[in-house]
Amino acid sequence: MAEIAVNIAGIKMKNPVMVASGTFGSGKDYEDFMNLGDIGAIIAKSVTLKPRDGNPPPRICETPSGMLNTIGLQNSGIDIFIKEDLPYLSKFKVPVIVNIAGESVDEYAQLAKRLSDIPGISGIEVNISCPNVKQGGMQFGVDPKLTAEVISAVRKATKLPVIAKLSPNVTDIKLIAKAAETAGADAISAINTVLGMAIDINSRRPKLSMVVGGLSGPAIKPIAVRMVHEIYKTVKVPVIGIGGIMDAADAIEFILAGASAVQVGTGNFVNPKAAVDIAEGIKKYLIANKLESIKDLVGKIKT
Ligand SMILES: Cc1cc2nc3c(=O)[nH]c(=O)nc-3n(C[C@H](O)[C@H](O)[C@H](O)COP(=O)(O)O)c2cc1C
Repeated sequence: MAEIAVNIAGIKMKNPVMVASGTFGSGKDYEDFMNLGDIGAIIAKSVTLKPRDGNPPPRICETPSGMLNTIGLQNSGIDIFIKEDLPYLSKFKVPVIVNIAGESVDEYAQLAKRLSDIPGISGIEVNISCPNVKQGGMQFGVDPKLTAEVISAVRKATKLPVIAKLSPNVTDIKLIAKAAETAGADAISAINTVLGMAIDINSRRPKLSMVVGGLSGPAIKPIAVRMVHEIYKTVKVPVIGIGGIMDAADAIEFILAGASAVQVGTGNFVNPKAAVDIAEGIKKYLIANKLESIKDLVGKIKT
């Protein structure tokens, strides 16, 4: 009764609630609040080949029902990640999914290859919301052809499960999802942040150093639920829902729209143990509704 364990593309999780890339660091800041082993899976912050300082401040600002960020993929690079972050994360007997970001197709492939030989990694999430430096800075994830190139290069470079993380900043997410699936993605996660902007009317300056940034939190939830539903109807691989999930009701909404699992991002900043609370809430919902398994809910929106 009320089974909440899931298997997403071969990654076995005790519950369907993961923490989203970039919102959980490498977990160390959260260990005082919960047992990290109770999370469905930990998605590490985006890692790049070389260390990155990220963008200058101000890099975040609060907006109605959400926040904008322009962190700029700050990270210590793959070598330090493997040497320092991974051994820490591996202690918790919870699947660790590494999120990779590159400036060229070749960089993504190199990252995937490096990670494949390292024990303790359950899967790779590919952040395609990154500018393709060779093609004038256009994001990989806004074009089906570029999406397919990145995902198929990663697919060839690793035997680990590959999750394509889609950008919502596109006209038709279905085309991108299909391209990712055809190129070999084992699952699709959606959505990354929505492009946004805010201005301080007193200084008349943008609130973020890079002028525009990524909007996250409850403000984007209806967009994310709509996109997850469209992707669910388009592909056969499992969909992982992300965007404004703060509590179990939000997560269940995504599951009804077609998500087989979910990720919590901005919610971690409000309640550090949100992921664990949400997993418990989903179980309670299954019990209250006399459902055998979470599978009985996936895509079960009544239309
Ligand atoms: C401060 C911050 C940093 C983020 N960094 C990354 C990142 O490094 N890689 C990535 O794929 N997504 C990153 N994201 C996007 C989140 O993983 C998630 O897709 C998005 O915030 C939507 O979910 P939410 O509304 O629950 O936060 C970041 C989001 C925030 C708020």
